[in-house]
Amino acid sequence: MTEIRTPRLLLRRWHDDDLVPMADINADPQVMRWVDDGSVLDLEQTAEAIEKWEEEWDEEGFGLFAVELLASGELAGFAGLSVPDFLPEARSEVAISWRFGSPFWGQGYASEAAHATLEFALQDRGLDRVISIIRIGDEASENVSRKLGMAPERETVHPVHGHPLNIHAIDLTEFHG
Ligand SMILES: CC(C)(COP(=O)(O)OP(=O)(O)OC[C@H]1O[C@@H](n2cnc3c(N)ncnc32)[C@H](O)[C@@H]1OP(=O)(O)O)[C@@H](O)C(=O)NCCC(=O)NCCS
Repeated sequence: MTEIRTPRLLLRRWHDDDLVPMADINADPQVMRWVDDGSVLDLEQTAEAIEKWEEEWDEEGFGLFAVELLASGELAGFAGLSVPDFLPEARSEVAISWRFGSPFWGQGYASEAAHATLEFALQDRGLDRVISIIRIGDEASENVSRKLGMAPERETVHPVHGHPLNIHAIDLTEFHG
């Protein structure tokens, strides 16, 4: 069973009950502004996404964690690891990503979950390198990435949508959880 507790959060695999709250998060244009082409996702698309995230857990031994607030049991969003299939040049890498509902921004939850994810990558999965792929302009994600100790490495372009992306990376052998 893959579960991580941080002071305020539970990172865990996905439950059926997560569908509606995650679909609400994915339906918010403010949340989706910097994700892919900025389109919102509906309930059906969110169900497909969760199914794909769970398949990645089964196939790779890592994936995107559902992030729940310990205090209330609410689903705040996700953080976790994935193989960035959308970017052929990075298919041999493992990327960290995050998405939280806007009511949960500005409280340090994303950084807390992302930090726990890097510890998981190093200690549980034995990974020595993780990248983040951030759309240029997404300052909130740049801020999270920087606070984790990830360093800008290069710029590239989204192969489908054509927008510029920043690749950040961290050598986990130098990461002190
Ligand atoms: C990117 C995203 C996850 C960042 O969330 P966030 O809440 O801004 O990030 P953090 O968890 O680092 O919290 C930020 C602020 O919370 C505040 N904060 C409040 N209480 C805190 C606490 N106990 N601990 C730490 N920070 C706290 C801090 O002021 C911090 O800001 P600072 O880094 O300038 O000091 C969020 O904006 C999001 O989900 N965006 C939409 C999805 C998205 O764009 N995903 C990435 C593209 S794939």
